[in-house]
Amino acid sequence: RDRYTGLINRYRDHLPVNDDTPIISLGEGNTPLIRLKNIPRLLGKDVDIYVKYEGLNPTGSFKDRGMTMAVTKAVEEGSNAIICASTGNTSAAAAAYAARAGISAFVLIPEGKIAMGKLAQAMMYGAMIMQIRGNFDQGMELVKQVAEKAPVTIVNSVNPYRLQGQKTAAFEIVEELGRAPDYHCLPVGNAGNISAYWMGYSEYHKAGIAGSVPRMVGYQATGAAPFLRGAAVENPETVATAIRIGNPQSWDKAWTAQKDSEGWFDELADEEILAAQKLLAQKEGVFCEPASAASIGGAMRDIKAGKITEGSTIVCTLTGNGLKDPDTAIAQCQQELSSGARMVTIDAELDAVKKAI
Ligand code: F0G
Repeated sequence: RDRYTGLINRYRDHLPVNDDTPIISLGEGNTPLIRLKNIPRLLGKDVDIYVKYEGLNPTGSFKDRGMTMAVTKAVEEGSNAIICASTGNTSAAAAAYAARAGISAFVLIPEGKIAMGKLAQAMMYGAMIMQIRGNFDQGMELVKQVAEKAPVTIVNSVNPYRLQGQKTAAFEIVEELGRAPDYHCLPVGNAGNISAYWMGYSEYHKAGIAGSVPRMVGYQATGAAPFLRGAAVENPETVATAIRIGNPQSWDKAWTAQKDSEGWFDELADEEILAAQKLLAQKEGVFCEPASAASIGGAMRDIKAGKITEGSTIVCTLTGNGLKDPDTAIAQCQQELSSGARMVTIDAELDAVKKAI
């Protein structure tokens, strides 16, 4: 059996590369598709729910799929610097793949609004970090202006190679299920990923590899829900900092995915996102970051309401690893822990342990 060497080698027939392309890979892709056991039972509905656990990519998020392609093509085209605006995960992936390629990475992040793990990654992988006194949308505008003049390649999802890499997640799902799911649910921020999945499903459908396509369902946080408002949101706010975005760059592509797939957009309150994150961890043993939980939280609500029908197969993308954002996780558990129900501080003595048990 061939050693797995990343998604470009795996899917090269479906990607814009040739035999001379210098592939920059960290072995991304090939992530687990986990069938949920306990949550469907809790819902009391006859549904098959799978989570695509993208938090197991090399830098802990789905961004690695896009970044292997974007950095590979940047290097092929002779670029020696990349730049992005980011809520955290893109900057981590950009920094890692730039390190691997031996080129520079410049990242613009909103000061104080990125999860600790992501900041640690950008620092550790050696990126040049610009913390801006502003939000992601402002960073995105700055990056576009800079890249117009400076010899630096944008690796945000406005770079078409990003979506090419990310579409491979849909390929993996079709291959693993032997068909396309009936519904595909995912969190929506800058809206690149929903567009990429739709591209992937559509390509496999046209090629006759999948007999159908799923309905694409995009979930946003209430405080950052431009697709629900029908227009950009000025000051986006949510605990799910990864999707704290008010002016999505793939606006038209995401609407096309929603319309052509006969799917929909919906929104979740921060409390609902956090409750879903915790439920998934405590009932299924799968720890994702808050933004990722919007997919499962939204799907659960739509299954309960019957909007997602019984007998369906549903895939939810868990976009990032729970370890990315330890602060939010700990804050969320603090209350039940401090009540003494699940955490106590004791002397290092056998009696004390026995008593606690
Ligand atoms: N989930 C996570 C964990 C993310 O990091 C992002 C986007 C999304 C969902 C939304 O995906 O933007 O394709 O709709 N994070 C970007 C970043 C914006 O900078 O890391 P999208």
